[in-house]
Amino acid sequence: MKVITAVPMVDLGAQYRRIKPAVDAAIARVVESGQFIKGEDCALFEAEFAAWCGAAGAVGVANGTDALTLAMKAFGVGPEDEVVTVSNTFIATGEAILLNAARPVFVDVDPDTFTMDPTLLEAAITEQTKLIVPVHLYGHPADMTAIMAVAKRHGIPVLEDAAQAHGAEVGGRRAGTLGDAACFSFYPGKNLGAYGDAGMVVSNDGDFMARLRQLANHGSGKAKYEHLVAGTNSRLDTLQAAVLRVKLASLDEWNRERRERVTAYSRALADIPSVERPSEAPGVTSAWHLYTIRLPRRDALQERLAGLGVATAVHYPRPIHLQPAMALSGGKPGDLPVSERLSGEVLSLPLYPELPFEAIEEIAAEVRSFRAAG
Ligand SMILES: Cc1ncc(COP(=O)(O)O)c(C=O)c1O
Repeated sequence: MKVITAVPMVDLGAQYRRIKPAVDAAIARVVESGQFIKGEDCALFEAEFAAWCGAAGAVGVANGTDALTLAMKAFGVGPEDEVVTVSNTFIATGEAILLNAARPVFVDVDPDTFTMDPTLLEAAITEQTKLIVPVHLYGHPADMTAIMAVAKRHGIPVLEDAAQAHGAEVGGRRAGTLGDAACFSFYPGKNLGAYGDAGMVVSNDGDFMARLRQLANHGSGKAKYEHLVAGTNSRLDTLQAAVLRVKLASLDEWNRERRERVTAYSRALADIPSVERPSEAPGVTSAWHLYTIRLPRRDALQERLAGLGVATAVHYPRPIHLQPAMALSGGKPGDLPVSERLSGEVLSLPLYPELPFEAIEEIAAEVRSFRAAG
């Protein structure tokens, strides 16, 4: 294969060149103002992002991990509690549970969507269950209709881990409005990425948001140096908010461009024996954060593509119930067969709005010849 140039997983430089004047002006405006903490861009971005999701409100925080950790705390998660989530996710989902001194309870994922299998949820719920945290992995929403039905039956709130799902939809409603609250990450490579770390919690519940804002700002009350609860410093950085406001204006367009590339990949990868392409469940719109195929001898393909200058990634090589950090969950090999199998078979191909279609054709041709060779 002759790839025109090396293909990265994401190309943030290419994105910057499309919006450079607006980004540069926004950064300069914040620097000139000297309002680096809680500047006006923070409140404006919170309102604009909440509106973009279709939610009533949003609270900006320092990163997606803090969004999860603080949202769980605002739901009252603490020692002795259990939080039901998935193992087929980034470590942060489980880490946030441990940081609240609660116990993660992992359920397996659906083999088609790679997200929480709602048919396994009921059996995971106990008297100690305080919260359910589905993850919209790779931008594909979990089966929120089924998950919310089980949660409602048990009176347990649901927190969406929407870190990878800016703009994903179920039945026309966006991630961020599908549960009781949702957490987003603006890690640079996300569909909406900052120039550093940033995160957001979105919800329609005003009291919950007030608790969250207090926790993220030293437990502060109304008066200066009045601290009502033990909180932390996890505010959204004003410079990041200013950059994110500029980028939000292009997010619908970028998500459309991602989808066009996904269509091109899926067409080019059609009918290759033993290569499973990602797809959308009925009624669902993925945000297509990642284009992740599933195949045997995954590592060999990854090596071959790397040799040609094509970056790929494995999301994730070890399900988190088998990570040493999650020992408290008591997880052991064999507990979650689908998650464990996926970790050996998934491979994410380069995907970003500026990805040249020629690169997609060439990568797909290489996958085809790899499989043809056995
Ligand atoms: C599913 C998921 N949850 C949580 C996070 C944590 O977000 P952050 O990296 O902003 O802390 C990430 C992102 O990296 C993620 O992919």
